[in-house]
Amino acid sequence: VVLVLDFGSQVTQLIARRVRELNLYCEIKPYNDFELNDQVEAVILSGSPFSVLDPQALHVDLDRLLDHAPVLGICYGAQYLAHTLGGSVEQSDSREYGRAELTKFAAPEDPILDGIQERSPVWMSHGDTICKLPDAFLPVATTQDVGIAVFKGKEEEFNNPVYGFQFHPEVTHSEQGALFLENFLIHIAGLTPDWTPSRFVEDAVDFIRQEVGEEHVILGLSGGVDSSVAAGLLHQAIGQNLICIFVDNGLLRKNEFEEVLESYKEMGLHIIGVRAEQEFYDALAGITDPESKRKAIGKVFIDVFEREAKKFPEAKWLGQGTIYPDVIESFSVHGPSVTIKSHHNVGGLPEKLHLKIIEPLRSLFKDEVRNVGEELGIPAPILKRHPFPGPGLGIRILGEITPERVRILQNADAIYISHLRNAGWYDKIWQAGVILLPVQSVGVMGDERTYEGTVALRAVNSLDGMTANWTHIPYDLLGKISSDIINKVKGINRVVYDISTKPPATIEWE
Ligand code: XMP
Repeated sequence: VVLVLDFGSQVTQLIARRVRELNLYCEIKPYNDFELNDQVEAVILSGSPFSVLDPQALHVDLDRLLDHAPVLGICYGAQYLAHTLGGSVEQSDSREYGRAELTKFAAPEDPILDGIQERSPVWMSHGDTICKLPDAFLPVATTQDVGIAVFKGKEEEFNNPVYGFQFHPEVTHSEQGALFLENFLIHIAGLTPDWTPSRFVEDAVDFIRQEVGEEHVILGLSGGVDSSVAAGLLHQAIGQNLICIFVDNGLLRKNEFEEVLESYKEMGLHIIGVRAEQEFYDALAGITDPESKRKAIGKVFIDVFEREAKKFPEAKWLGQGTIYPDVIESFSVHGPSVTIKSHHNVGGLPEKLHLKIIEPLRSLFKDEVRNVGEELGIPAPILKRHPFPGPGLGIRILGEITPERVRILQNADAIYISHLRNAGWYDKIWQAGVILLPVQSVGVMGDERTYEGTVALRAVNSLDGMTANWTHIPYDLLGKISSDIINKVKGINRVVYDISTKPPATIEWE
């Protein structure tokens, strides 16, 4: 495993992603909380918001790391190597941000530069500069503004290879960044790139079998990617000892319960479909406040799930579709926090049911979850599905939720999504949906005046939902969707398109 020590840079996650794209398994750990065992084959020191010159600079025992494995320092990591081992780092007059071009320096050429072009663009983001390297290091490459952009430890001085990059190889603006990482990890450190989805499935299946043995696991399915892939993996490991529960909360998309249930059955899952719409509608009657809706939906979900789960007293485990970003979110350089975000819908469940937790996807990024899903043969309509919030249409109906308003929204949403699919836009959009507004407005249909509801169409492009841009759907397609909704959905006479970015807006309206 490649160990990435996080000193708090905003792009530490990207280092892990780039390393995994090389088919090398990689984990991020806080700089002050990690284990250096036989599994660790290389260590990468990340960037940081701190300067090595700050009194509160973050420290790690370098001698121990350098003794144990090949080490690569990136930005703060590189400066930390230089500063700690006897070189000098100073605050520079001009902070260097953005694009720079790398010039080779080393003669004879160093293997870290194999395949790297002269003037290769690299992305810089630093206020300090390495002015002098320790005696045990050699400069390897430079940019116009920075004398020491890449350096290495002299072979006779260290047990393992050690390199420092002032630039950020993990961001895509460093065009040959991935090649730098490949040169270091595979060609210099000698790691074998054998971490693939099929290898992951093999290891995860072994792990699940060891953990769970003959005991039963219960898992809540939502129709989304994460829980479905978690189910596929658990199913492969323990077959019918996995019991899946899929609850119809009455806030799913039109026909979704039936369609998804059918796909799950085709996957061979032992699945219990629970129709509980009315319970949810009853709990939601009269509620208009967004957070109260979420709470009501969450509470009924737990009640329903608990009731079903108790029918399987042999279940000792609760499976969850937690993925890596949820895990990483839970630690920071300002002190590792203890709480790990659990699945939105089942908070509090494990304690209530006295179940142990198994989270087979907790080391994967979202796109890796999809790759594993493909490897497991999960149907494409499930893998390619847009993200959909746990409280479902409940947070897309502004104002009170009634069965009638759910029906209106489901019909409008079904028309919208089917137009996006037919026009080839569905797969180009990260998330799309319709929002029913608490607004009545005047219209005219035939000879009659109408006074009816409004829906807003939302479509965004995003990487992870943290920031988002509204999608530029062509006007003529928007026009067709609007007429189709107004003509076919009784109760709607007006359609608007949401052109807000996140931030400052959010993707959902509640
Ligand atoms: P926002 O609206 O915060 O949404 O920009 C970002 C992403 O999170 C989803 N979302 C939720 N998912 N429970 C969930 O499981 C929720 O309460 C919830 N609220 C928002 C949203 O659909 C988008 O993908």
